[in-house]
Amino acid sequence: MVTKTLHNEEETLLFGEEIAKGLKAGAFCSLEGSLGAGKTCISRGILRGMGHKGHVKSPTYPLLEIYNLDTSTIYHFDFYRITNPMEILDAGFREMFSGTSICLVEWANKGEGVLPTPDITISLTFNQNSRNVSVNAISQLGQQCLEGLA
Ligand SMILES: Nc1ncnc2c1ncn2[C@@H]1O[C@H](COP(=O)(O)OP(=O)(O)OP(=O)(O)O)[C@@H](O)[C@H]1O
Ligand SMILES: [Mg+2]
Repeated sequence: MVTKTLHNEEETLLFGEEIAKGLKAGAFCSLEGSLGAGKTCISRGILRGMGHKGHVKSPTYPLLEIYNLDTSTIYHFDFYRITNPMEILDAGFREMFSGTSICLVEWANKGEGVLPTPDITISLTFNQNSRNVSVNAISQLGQQCLEGLA
């Protein structure tokens, strides 16, 4: 487990870039924390670290944004608006967790029973005007992803 205090938005972005360095094909990262905790912000950092140069929109309304980068494809989901996990199956999202793409998922708890177990959890909590972050490996793939993370 790696824990850290992130004092401002830029530190959240930079820590996301650090996480990106180790991410392996097929990794499912669950981004946890309440509304406004910084899940999209750390996803921006991860995408930046994976080589994405453009804007990163919150996927709250479309539920999914896809990034086809030179070295990998990244699916950024936000399941906040999901009311029944079956919606995830019906939309064909479940299959997207079985391939080599990296999945960054906000509100993965909305897909409980339908989604696989994450490889990594990234949990953000409020700490006055800052955030605390805790990164945990759940699977062997997750452990490999986090090996270099200080
Ligand atoms: N380390 C930090 N310290 C203080 N503010 C931060 C930090 N990291 C991010 N923020 C701020 O937190 C706010 C919310 O961030 P973000 O949109 O990423 O939250 P979220 O967890 O994705 O929310 P939602 O559940 O609505 O999708 C942003 O205004 C961002 O600037
Ligand atoms: Mg968000």
